[in-house]
This record gives sequence, structure tokens and C-alpha cells, in this order.
Amino acid sequence: MASTHPRKIRSFVRRPGRTTTGQRHALASLLPIYGLADDHVPLCLEEVFGRSAPTILEIGFGDGEALLTSAANNPTIDHVGIEVHEPGVGHLLMLVQRAGLSNVRIVMRDAVEVLEHQLPSASFDTVRIFFPDPWPKKRHHKRRLIQTSFVAALARITKPGGLLHIATDWPHYAEHIREVLERTTEFVPLTPADAGRYPTSARAPTKFELRGRRLGHAVADLYFRRVD
Ligand SMILES: C[S@@+](CC[C@H](N)C(=O)[O-])C[C@H]1O[C@@H](n2cnc3c(N)ncnc32)[C@H](O)[C@@H]1O
Repeated sequence: MASTHPRKIRSFVRRPGRTTTGQRHALASLLPIYGLADDHVPLCLEEVFGRSAPTILEIGFGDGEALLTSAANNPTIDHVGIEVHEPGVGHLLMLVQRAGLSNVRIVMRDAVEVLEHQLPSASFDTVRIFFPDPWPKKRHHKRRLIQTSFVAALARITKPGGLLHIATDWPHYAEHIREVLERTTEFVPLTPADAGRYPTSARAPTKFELRGRRLGHAVADLYFRRVD
């Protein structure tokens, strides 16, 4: 019998990537410490971090190296990372523990669901999405993370005046991102000169960026301000 529930289109494919023994241990022992519960209760970030501080959200952090660098360099800023790739989450958990950081929390779940169910409105000063999967084939465009409904969810969780920073090494995806953002009234593009005024806009190179650069891809950093 045909299901009455249409299958959800996701922006990722869960591949059984190789999880090292260290990553497996980290997932078992450190996720309960640095992870945020996978339930539908809206989170109170002040309770989670035990303080009131500026906040950065990174969606799809991959191996987490850029997030770790940001958190280590900015101890007065609280960082939340969302990622579904278990080896990447395990890797970041190990880095966070080794660095002794208290300003990082991780959610291992589809970001679409996390934004919908777990994150309160106007809760982040900066939202980062570095090198989201470009899904270059036309028939896969529906899988792209950046689309109107997701941008509406991003607008809800970003503080007025907050920064949305997206980086990509796919020119067509950059064009798509600009078009989607142009259609919203909630974000306006920043010029590169304006972006320098946001202290949290700098970023460390990421694994996918380095791969793209090795292939000769040009990297675009796109900045948008959440209107007041
Ligand atoms: C191309 S990789 C980039 C990783 C990293 N930002 C980098 O630049 O190296 C995209 C990442 O986004 C994650 N991702 C894609 N869709 C996601 C979603 N809906 N929720 C959480 N993570 C997602 C994937 O698992 C993958 O690790």
C-alpha cells in the first residue's frame, strides 16, 4: 500500500563514513556532555552555557576545524554547531575536549528540524554555513539547503542586525544563494567592506574549501545582515 506520508527531501545523504575508534568513543562519552538533547523543547542558550554572551551558529560544520578555531579564538562567544555526519561530530568532540573549551555545544541532527523545533527566535548574532553541499545537478536542486523556506527559518533565529555568512566554491550555487536571499525582505547583502565591521565574520579555511581550491575553484564569501 502506498504511504500517505511523502518522503522528506533532505539536504544530505547519510553515508556510512569511516568512524575511527577515537571518534566512536567521543560520540559515546562526550556527546552527552557537549551535545544538546535531540528533543523538541526550545533551547534556552543562556541556560545551556550558563551565561549571557554573543552567539554563533554553524550549520554543517563537517570536521569542525573552523568552528573549533573560532571558539578557541573567541572564548567570550558561545558557539553551537549542527552536523549530521557522525565522524565529523566525533572529530569535533575530541578537539573540544582536548582544547578544554566550554563555549561549544553540538547538535547531531538535521538542521532543518533543529531550526524548526529546538532553536528560539532571535537567538544568534551570527549564523554560518560554510560550503553547503552544492547539489549541482538540476534534478537535485531541491536538495539544496539554501532555499526560501530555510532562509525564513534562518531569519527567525537570527537577531536583528545579526550576520548570515555563507561560503561556497560553486559559482552557480553562489548565484542561487544571492537570488534566494534577494527574494526575502529579512536579509540584505553586506558589502565586503561592511563585513569587516562584524568582528565575528573572519573564518578559518575548511576542509571542503581546501579541496575546492586544489581543484582551482574560486571561493565566494556571501554576507547578509538581518534587518532590524
Ligand atoms: C560539503 S560539506 C562542508 C563541510 C564543512 N562546512 C567544510 O566546509 O568543510 C557539507 C556538510 O553539511 C552537512 N549537512 C548537509 N545538510 C545538513 C543538514 N540538513 N543538517 C546538518 N548538517 C547538514 C553534511 O553532513 C556535510 O558535512
